[in-house]
Amino acid sequence: MKALVLAGGAGTRLRPLTHTSAKQLVPVANKPILFYGLEQIRDAGITDVGIIVGDTRAEIEAAVGDGTALGITPTYLPQQAPLGLAHALLTAADFLGDDDFVMFLGDNLVEGGIADAVETFRRERPDAQLLLKQVPDPERFGVAELTPSGDIARLVEKPAEPRSDLALVGIYLFTSKILDAARRIEPSARGELEITDAIQRLLDDGARVRSSLLEGWWLDTGKKDELLDANRIVLGSIGRSVAGEVDADSEVVGEVMVEAGASIVRSTVRGPAVIGAGCRIVDSFVGPFTSIGARTCIESSEVDFSVVLEDCLVRGISRLEGSLLGRNVELTRTRRRPAAHRFLLGDHSQVEIEGGS
Ligand code: DAU
Repeated sequence: MKALVLAGGAGTRLRPLTHTSAKQLVPVANKPILFYGLEQIRDAGITDVGIIVGDTRAEIEAAVGDGTALGITPTYLPQQAPLGLAHALLTAADFLGDDDFVMFLGDNLVEGGIADAVETFRRERPDAQLLLKQVPDPERFGVAELTPSGDIARLVEKPAEPRSDLALVGIYLFTSKILDAARRIEPSARGELEITDAIQRLLDDGARVRSSLLEGWWLDTGKKDELLDANRIVLGSIGRSVAGEVDADSEVVGEVMVEAGASIVRSTVRGPAVIGAGCRIVDSFVGPFTSIGARTCIESSEVDFSVVLEDCLVRGISRLEGSLLGRNVELTRTRRRPAAHRFLLGDHSQVEIEGGS
């Protein structure tokens, strides 16, 4: 069995971060989202992994490399443009051949892995096996309608008026029949070849399409609040490990990972939190559900429920909360006159300043 991981596409909803980098590499608890999926694939016993790449190919290849660190053997499959999930699938046709495979969207994060789903698929070998999850906002996803006996009646991609609250999770198990179905669909209203339509085509052909409800959490990390939420949930199970230095005037409380080469000076870190390699936390407070990327410096500041990426400087900020900072961001306080906020913000940046009436 093989795996096909989709790491192409355009990350419009996580701008401005994704102006400069792949959305699948945005970190959750200091690890790229994509790596969680690749590890779950490996843990299900699958090592032959095709990775669909687009404009951010170089960055994805630099991060995954030859796959040794993740225990997989990747084959990079360039997609000429992000023309849809079924288009990505067809791009991988030669790689997939006649093999069964799991298709995994590179920005999806699920609890508990995929080993059980893969085992059920191997045992029962339907033509397709889907994972469904009840969600409050089904119109943002592919939606499944079930028959009274629980079989899949119909699948619709992002319906304006969903007929159920069961979203299609971005993890699918297929036999090679899906390739033939994908060749027989037309682009959707948003101009993409939808995997949902290809599976619907399988259903129309009378193929066996199974589904099961995902028990644990599922996160589609497409937007800032979802990413902060993913970070909160994943940090909840990181445990405690302190490899960096904590001075006598500091306190590290609860589940905190302080990576090697980080130093905590006259500060309090209250977990769950992760402090990346080479960070300096000085005269500061880092509160629960916060990830600080490698080499970032937090001085005389308070940071809470936030994700700060690598090589940032946060100095003199009394409270940063619910925030997502990209790489090399500087956030500092100044005594310069006239007293004012001074910004240099990239396209699609968002700033909220406290106060107001
Ligand atoms: O997250 C689950 C949802 O994923 C499903 O419920 C939907 O049925 C499915 O269509 C998909 O919807 P999205 O609109 O969220 O897909 P998105 O465009 O975000 O792409 C998902 C991943 O696939 C993302 O990592 C980028 C990658 N991708 C996307 C396209 C369109 C590619 O590699 N190539 C592509 O052409």
